[in-house]
Amino acid sequence: MNEKPRHDLATTGNLEALYPALAERCLTAGWHKARPSLWPTPRGAFHPRHWRYSEARLAMDLAGEWIGTELAERRNLLTFNPVGDNDYATARTLVSAYQMIKPGEHARAHRHTPNALRVVLDAGPGLYTVVDGVRLPMCPGDVLLTPNWTWHSHYNDGPDCAYWIDMLDVPLVHLLEPMFFEPHPDEYQATTSTPDESPYRFTQAAAEASLAQMAPGADGCRKLVLDSQTHMPTMALSFTSVPEHATLHLPRSTANRILAVSGGRGRAQVGDLSFEWARGDLFVVPSWTACRIEAEAATLLFQASDEPVLRALGFHREESPVRA
Ligand SMILES: [Fe+2]
Repeated sequence: MNEKPRHDLATTGNLEALYPALAERCLTAGWHKARPSLWPTPRGAFHPRHWRYSEARLAMDLAGEWIGTELAERRNLLTFNPVGDNDYATARTLVSAYQMIKPGEHARAHRHTPNALRVVLDAGPGLYTVVDGVRLPMCPGDVLLTPNWTWHSHYNDGPDCAYWIDMLDVPLVHLLEPMFFEPHPDEYQATTSTPDESPYRFTQAAAEASLAQMAPGADGCRKLVLDSQTHMPTMALSFTSVPEHATLHLPRSTANRILAVSGGRGRAQVGDLSFEWARGDLFVVPSWTACRIEAEAATLLFQASDEPVLRALGFHREESPVRA
């Protein structure tokens, strides 16, 4: 494609004439740009947001009548943040989704550079994931990892529909652009082992046992950081137990956080958004947003955050929580 003729820079007689001549050359004057490029404190575009499992489950049950895994690579509902024309990301670097798989369905194997994890909500026996040939059971409360470039596929050989939450760092990969994706050449991968334990599987029972042995903080809450970062270096994963009637304050942080309610119910204030939450719900705490969580029943929260990315780059900052 030939370049269009341009105004002669040498004959522009004043600044107002210079600007369009610069724009033709994809140059902009730093003193004349439309938007600031620096600001005193983070002003994230993403909003606090809450999604109800009860609604997502109903919608997936309906969709399950009309779309099968042979048509959809995955039958999932993405929890997108309504900012600009975004219809995918939940936070700047992270996305979450609800997913459902019906009895007898098998979701094809694929691999991709984004890291992914699942938090199982409701499932009967016979639900499992295969990661690089290793068969991992998917039981309610389990957290399963499918790290960067591992083959993964999901199977429901049981009698019940199964529901889980996916969390991935796809928006971070979109920002940095190292996206690769590959369907498995045989559509499904062979199972090569069925171990009792795996570094890719964290059970809720084991997490609760570890939490019970920890000393609670002054607020009564306990936080267990999962040993996952050697496999998935872009995300920090944790469980936090919040006793009945206790309040958890999450300090304002440059990290983006998505929380899934593994059990319990209560209220939350995330930035200027106030809502009631229940088991299976998801909510996003975007960068530099204050969060207060009040448990009306004993609660277990799962959290994924991009904190390791911020720390690795020297961008992590955190405020002390403001006690209300
Ligand atoms: Fe995947």
